[in-house]
Amino acid sequence: MPDKPIRHSLPTPVPAVAASAAEKTVPLRINGKAYFHDGDPDMPLLWYLRDVLRLTGTKYACGIGACGACTVLIDDKAQQACMIPVKSVAHRRITTIEGLAGGTLHPLQQAWIAEDAVQCGYCQTGQIMAAADLLKRNPRPSDADIDKISNLCRCGSYPRIRAAIKRAAAATQAPHK
Ligand code: FES
Ligand code: FES
Repeated sequence: MPDKPIRHSLPTPVPAVAASAAEKTVPLRINGKAYFHDGDPDMPLLWYLRDVLRLTGTKYACGIGACGACTVLIDDKAQQACMIPVKSVAHRRITTIEGLAGGTLHPLQQAWIAEDAVQCGYCQTGQIMAAADLLKRNPRPSDADIDKISNLCRCGSYPRIRAAIKRAAAATQAPHK
């Protein structure tokens, strides 16, 4: 008489598609809103902002972390979105130029207008985000502190950018008693 077949108790298989989709979903918090990215987790944050969410205020220029045109704030720190995969900023607080202001323009945006800081404008959103990081860390920056911002401006509007940052710093100081 042949041996009875041996039955192995196997765990219930998990549907492969559902498992891989869950692994890929990246929860993001951008300008105070929650998003879930179901695509390539290695997609640069800049692509996600511009091509998926259509937040085109953040600019693409060099794409290699050299110019700062793509600067956004991640937990209030200026970082270059072209160099950051979305998977590395899950659950972090991401702010773009579109989310910098509340109901009115941010003091930096007001100062930028007052100082007429923009020439072609391409680098300027990145400059403003870098300045927002600086003023958070250093509310009274010196010229030397401002000059440490490494964002590039091909139009050379650095003196007006510097003036705008100083104007914004002055506007946000508590009055002396
Ligand atoms: S586009 Fe990101 S640093 Fe130049
Ligand atoms: S204003 Fe033109 S690159 Fe900066």
